Amino acid sequence: MTHDQVVIVLTTAAWSGGVGLIGGVVVWLGRRASVRWLTVGVASVAVLSVVAGTLATARAMFISGHDLGVIGLVAAVAGLVALLFALAVGSALARWSRAIREGARAFGESGEYVASPGGPAEFSELSDELRRTSQKLAESRDRELALEQSRRELVSWVSHDLRTPLAGLRAMTEALEDGLADDPGRYHAMMRAEVDRMVRMVDDLFELSRIHAGVLRLSPQPVALGDLVSEALAGADSVARARGVRLGGEVEQDVLVTADPASLSRVVSNLLMNAIRHTPADGVVEIRGRAVPDGVELSITDACGGMKEEDIPRVFDVGWQGSSARTPDHVDGVGGAGAGLGLAIVKGIVEAHLGQVAVANHDPGCRFLVTLPA
Ligand SMILES: Nc1ncnc2c1ncn2[C@@H]1O[C@H](COP(=O)(O)OP(=O)(O)OP(=O)(O)O)[C@@H](O)[C@H]1O
Ligand SMILES: [Mg+2]
Repeated sequence: MTHDQVVIVLTTAAWSGGVGLIGGVVVWLGRRASVRWLTVGVASVAVLSVVAGTLATARAMFISGHDLGVIGLVAAVAGLVALLFALAVGSALARWSRAIREGARAFGESGEYVASPGGPAEFSELSDELRRTSQKLAESRDRELALEQSRRELVSWVSHDLRTPLAGLRAMTEALEDGLADDPGRYHAMMRAEVDRMVRMVDDLFELSRIHAGVLRLSPQPVALGDLVSEALAGADSVARARGVRLGGEVEQDVLVTADPASLSRVVSNLLMNAIRHTPADGVVEIRGRAVPDGVELSITDACGGMKEEDIPRVFDVGWQGSSARTPDHVDGVGGAGAGLGLAIVKGIVEAHLGQVAVANHDPGCRFLVTLPA
């Protein structure tokens, strides 16, 4: 590089740099203005720094007066074009961002995001993100509606389910009162069974409301899964026998789980009773327990013939029951004509233990899988 060139570079750098610096400050101060003015600001800084550099080198007499006039004219026209271009780009940016803003506002009002603003990648990304959020919101809203619906159904079903045994009790007490009952002993047994059923239902409701209120008190302690399952099996044995259902399966030896014993028993017996109730005579209900890397896994497989795919996401909802479960007056001693609370309680208890419960079809029936941290 010749000496002159070095001087030109340094002079231009100093002057253009100065303009750039001042421009930077001005753009920074105006950073809250519309993007339209920011692009114009950037273009102006670019043009002005060229002009400043040119003027400085002219003053150092590297450029003649005539040439300076030509350069000035070129700079003016080019600068005007650049400014117009910047204004156009800035306006387009402002328009795209306005489309997103309006889409977001409509999203807030209608809950659905529909805008597709176009523009640079960042805008499309932002827009895609809003669309995903809107989908997620829609899903949770649907879920909320379904829950609300099942809660409403629950109230009507529970009142129905309580009214039926109450009407039966009234009829039986009246018959006893009037001395019309030819076999009072049988009436007493039936009354006892009805009362037990109502007590169970009220207990379930109470348990569920404690789970939902978050006041379920757990006293976790190491529990031998094998013993707990054996007890549940023993408790369910008479019912299974009465229905001709065979109980099987096994739990790996010495599997320990930290859990509240009473609550966990309730989980196992609810699942077991459901499985027995939905398994036809001669079917098999299998319960298996094993240690897995991050805890223990308990599976209960029945021979219910499979659940409808659309029912699977709803079985754990409060008050939800499959269509065949709501047959009035069918008392089978297995919590028949229940209220659809059993699985909601199971889920509540398992989640209070930081575990998970899921169900899937598994020939010849369905399988409930409970995982609990060790
Ligand atoms: N093992 C199973 N096999 C097939 N269907 C099942 C099974 N367990 C539950 N279900 C279905 O899920 C529904 C909800 O079960 P859940 O235990 O919550 O209520 P319920 O047994 O009907 O009444 P409750 O348990 O309150 O006495 C049942 O009505 C049934 O349709
Ligand atoms: Mg049940």
